[in-house]
Amino acid sequence: MLKKLKLRKTSKGTQNIEARIENIKKHELPKHIAIIMDGNGRWASKRAMPRIAGHHEGTKRVKPITRLANKLGIEVLTLYAFSTENWIRPKMEVDYLMKLPQEFFGTFLPELVEENVRVQMMGHKERLPEHTLNVVQNAIDDTRNNTGLVLNFALNYGGRDEILNAVQNILHDADSGIIDKESITEEKFTNYLMSNKYKDPDLLIRTSGEIRLSNFMLWQLAYTEFVFTDVLWPDFSEDDLLNAIEEYQRRSRRYGGLQSEGNQK
Ligand code: FPP
Repeated sequence: MLKKLKLRKTSKGTQNIEARIENIKKHELPKHIAIIMDGNGRWASKRAMPRIAGHHEGTKRVKPITRLANKLGIEVLTLYAFSTENWIRPKMEVDYLMKLPQEFFGTFLPELVEENVRVQMMGHKERLPEHTLNVVQNAIDDTRNNTGLVLNFALNYGGRDEILNAVQNILHDADSGIIDKESITEEKFTNYLMSNKYKDPDLLIRTSGEIRLSNFMLWQLAYTEFVFTDVLWPDFSEDDLLNAIEEYQRRSRRYGGLQSEGNQK
């Protein structure tokens, strides 16, 4: 059974979180939410703790946020866990980051299986240590038949790298006669991206006050609504996710057109 979300007062005053969820569900929800989980290092520094303590705390936040996304009926939750640029961090930090999947799935996988969550990964598997890859692959395998929320980890992922790879694969397929070079459309191009099974994110959240994309889903975020929050990822709460979704629901998405479509039903 889904763990019951703690009832507590929210920034909206007396309305408890369950009532807030019910209200949010009356309006159009983002189908795909992507999150740049930033600020782990600063969270730790503020407490005179080592950076890895921030990553440990940040990993703990993934569980309640996944539970809430699942409860809301979100289709895909993509989390930026490790970028192709993160390898330049000190070896000790990289080694620790590579152990996080073990920390996370070690305790959370049975619940993910039971709650119909399907684990996926996008990024290059080649450079990941075997122990990291094994744990992630095991989670993907164990949740293979699940049909609920897709929990998609961007691990050793970079947006430019993804686009470049797509171009290389298209050229290869064109040379092999698999596709016709003259008929490459945006839709066909999208098929070559690592996210090809999912719709583009409707909502991107970045924590910690940084206002940039950091090479995340550069193609897919073309028409996504961005919500930036000063909250550091280890402090990111269920309330903060609901705040971001409410912000999304207040926005009007026009996709380059004029007519205001609004996300409110
Ligand atoms: C950025 O914060 C965060 C990361 C590089 C790692 C994010 C990963 C997690 C929160 C856990 C992922 C969980 C699994 C299961 C893989 P930062 O270190 O750049 O923070 P700073 O900007 O304050 O230094």
